[in-house]
Amino acid sequence: MCGIIGYIGTKKASPILISGLLRLEYRGYDSAGISTVEKDGLSIMKDKGRVKNLYNLKGIDDLQGTIGIAHTRWATHGKPSKENSHPHLDNSQSFSVVHNGIIENYHDLRTFLINNGYTFYSQTDTEVIPNLIHYYYSKDTKDDELKVLRAVQSACKDLKGSYAIEVISKYMPNNMIVVRKDSPLVIGKGDEENYISSDIPAILSFTTKFYLLNDNEFAVLSKDNIEFYDISLNKVQKDLKNIDWNASAADKNGYEDYMLKEIFEQPNAIRETIGSRLPENEPCNFEDLNFTKEFLSSINKIYIVACGTAMHAGLTGKITIEQLCNIPVTVDIASEFRYRNPIVDKNTLCIYISQSGETADTIAALKLAKSKCATTLAISNVIGSSITREADYTIYTHAGPEIAVASTKAYTSQVILLNILAVYFAEVLQSTSSENIKNMKKSILELPYKIEDALKTSDAIKNFANKIYNEKDVFFLGRGIDYNTALEGSLKLKEISYIHSEAYAAGELKHGPIALVENGITVISIITDKNLVEKTISNIQEVITRGAKTLVVTNQALPSNNIDVVIDVPDTCVYLSPIVSIVPLQLLSYYISKEKGLDVDKPRNLAKSVTVE
Ligand code: AGP
Repeated sequence: MCGIIGYIGTKKASPILISGLLRLEYRGYDSAGISTVEKDGLSIMKDKGRVKNLYNLKGIDDLQGTIGIAHTRWATHGKPSKENSHPHLDNSQSFSVVHNGIIENYHDLRTFLINNGYTFYSQTDTEVIPNLIHYYYSKDTKDDELKVLRAVQSACKDLKGSYAIEVISKYMPNNMIVVRKDSPLVIGKGDEENYISSDIPAILSFTTKFYLLNDNEFAVLSKDNIEFYDISLNKVQKDLKNIDWNASAADKNGYEDYMLKEIFEQPNAIRETIGSRLPENEPCNFEDLNFTKEFLSSINKIYIVACGTAMHAGLTGKITIEQLCNIPVTVDIASEFRYRNPIVDKNTLCIYISQSGETADTIAALKLAKSKCATTLAISNVIGSSITREADYTIYTHAGPEIAVASTKAYTSQVILLNILAVYFAEVLQSTSSENIKNMKKSILELPYKIEDALKTSDAIKNFANKIYNEKDVFFLGRGIDYNTALEGSLKLKEISYIHSEAYAAGELKHGPIALVENGITVISIITDKNLVEKTISNIQEVITRGAKTLVVTNQALPSNNIDVVIDVPDTCVYLSPIVSIVPLQLLSYYISKEKGLDVDKPRNLAKSVTVE
């Protein structure tokens, strides 16, 4: 999705803006641009294509301004083109604006502005914003230092939809104004300089101190000051947050791609997720929750709501919570949950999982449950992200920044956190034996080492990837908890290799999909539940009989020896096995994508954080 960068300080803004945009590239985009405050007015440099093309634009080296805004655009309204790229100017060239999000009523606003003499040069929804600001600025008869802010406020009152907006103006040449509603934006505080970004990793190399804006809050920045205002332009105070991610965590650290780095970071990411939550011989420690037995006993239903990979993590969490705590759990896709009037009340606990904490559907689903009086708990990787500010409670995965679009370490840390949460609930509720709890804790603490071992399958997986990278269709099969891993393995493959793949509960095969199995097709299976080994093996035999090439990821001793490739992973408690068995499948999609020469970290059409519906 679109990305925003801003700089206000003493240095030349343009190189800082472009390097910030390069760090936002992973979010996905099709055009880029910057705008700076120059002595003779506002500059605009933009074009479709990659951020690095900005370096070649005529005049870019001449820019001297120390205040600027920048943007990577992911086309929604209007095709990728220079005209549609941000920043956008108003007709009088007095206000320059970049915007993330979608203005739903832009058509009405455009008509209104056209009727008031304004002309439009792009097909974007964004172009209404600078012109609306100009409209209100020219109508305001009061001439004071808040005049531009008032115009931005009035314009925002007219906007329906989601936005994170940066504004610079020739009428306020030493300032920048930013505002957000349902779209991410953070403010980084430096020494005699301040930064704006859509996310924290992009500006981590400049600062680790951040202000987080709430919806409908404005900030007016100068190089050495930041003032915050609410929707009525009353001043508000904000706390500065120190983020303990270091800049190198957002670098490739010698790896060819972020995805590979993040796959190999999983043992440590998981150590961070476990942190001090499992103290030896003591109950689980969730400082921020402190749920009582009375409260948890009042919960008669849990929803886990998320999108994509985060939803797959939820499917696995469901199994552990149901088995250890005896509370029914429904896992829902956020974009479905929010529109299907779910049965939710004060006795419902709704858990929302989002790596970025900015996924529009997940946030909307959370707001819906809150409006129905449910207790809401967010699981996120990004401190202070939007979802964490909406939820009643938040627990963090602490997996470190995840840059690659394909989620890997965030997934495994989400699964492990849900398992720790299940153990915590079970301890409070006394819903399972202390022996079970003890075994679960031991298995969780051993997991980082098991993932280290699972990573050793890398060479064998690379060999298999070399054999199948030209395939058009791949099937993933699994039963029980392994079906969840099949779903996640299949999603990873689709995302970054563009190979069509389907995941099926192995028992469903005979109910339709087996019609697609023909000579030479690749079928990948996962077997980690000892109670289901024979059942899944029978299904694998059915596809072998029909000529399939087979790979099985397992921690069990398998009875059959006519499987083409068996990838052994370390054994662990069945609830935790997805954390280990997904590792070879992450590596498989990575190596296939590499073999096909694709952009692993930035697959086509995808964005790291999906901030619009
Ligand atoms: C994962 O590989 C995907 N890129 C995607 O499914 C992702 O998990 C989903 O968009 C949810 O993102 P979130 O965790 O940031 O909410």
